[in-house]
Amino acid sequence: MLAPDDLRRAVPATARSAAAPRPGRRPRFARRATLRRSLRLLGSFRFEQTDPARFYGGIAVDTAELIEDFYADHTGRDLSGLVVLDVGGGPGYFADEFAARGARYIPVEPDPAEMHAAGLQVPAAVRGSGTALPFRDDAVDVCLSSNVAEHVATPWRMAQEMLRVTKPGGLMVFSYTVWLGPFGGHETGPWHYLGGERAAARYRRKHGREPKNRFGTSLFAVGAGEGVRWARGIGSRATVLAVFPRYHPRWAWWLVRIPVVREFLVSNLVIVAAKA
Ligand SMILES: C[S@@+](CC[C@H](N)C(=O)[O-])C[C@H]1O[C@@H](n2cnc3c(N)ncnc32)[C@H](O)[C@@H]1O
Repeated sequence: MLAPDDLRRAVPATARSAAAPRPGRRPRFARRATLRRSLRLLGSFRFEQTDPARFYGGIAVDTAELIEDFYADHTGRDLSGLVVLDVGGGPGYFADEFAARGARYIPVEPDPAEMHAAGLQVPAAVRGSGTALPFRDDAVDVCLSSNVAEHVATPWRMAQEMLRVTKPGGLMVFSYTVWLGPFGGHETGPWHYLGGERAAARYRRKHGREPKNRFGTSLFAVGAGEGVRWARGIGSRATVLAVFPRYHPRWAWWLVRIPVVREFLVSNLVIVAAKA
């Protein structure tokens, strides 16, 4: 499901935004989603372990631009003065990019080790789980989770929580790594195609330790189709603005519409919804 033409085919008219870009006008972020951008992001992935600052720096800029674009399309406003909640924000890698746009950035993270992993100081950091967010209803302007749902046993409960704490008119952006995609197995890939348990056992044999992302404990098989169905079932709670493969150029976004194929080729699915 894509924006805007493919979005019309994939999501019922009642679930679409009146404020979404007019038919024939591409959302700002779609215009930014070029092949050059995709290659730049893919190139940065190999630095995740060796140079996390370089890897996360690139993802941070791209994530802030994505949210800035969708928020501007939806409301005509920039991010200044807004509260952005980053669910599963780790140590707060995205803090500087949102601060540079004038937003108040709050990372929520359940794992203290992750919170302190990069030595960053993010004063507003909150310890908590995405499945039971320690915030009242309608509290934040933007609620984001990036590469988190695949680490949560109940990802759609987390999505529901994220929608709960988002203000009416605010944005919820839910982006996750698809299990059968090339990065689904994380450090155990590509052996996850033989099954998560087998991939973990192979990793253990080879490295003499458990993988950080352990299948069934901190890594789960979340499909692209699950996200598309969740978006379709959103009903009156929100308006789905777009569902697309995060790292693909615009001309490849149609992949999201094709069952089975999307499981292998989408890699990372993004759902952007505006709360009703
Ligand atoms: C791969 S990191 C993603 C970090 C960052 N959001 C990004 O896009 O680079 C996954 C994060 O999700 C966190 N996480 C795991 N379970 C969670 C939960 N139930 N609620 C919120 N975050 C969770 C992990 O601790 C970890 O920091």
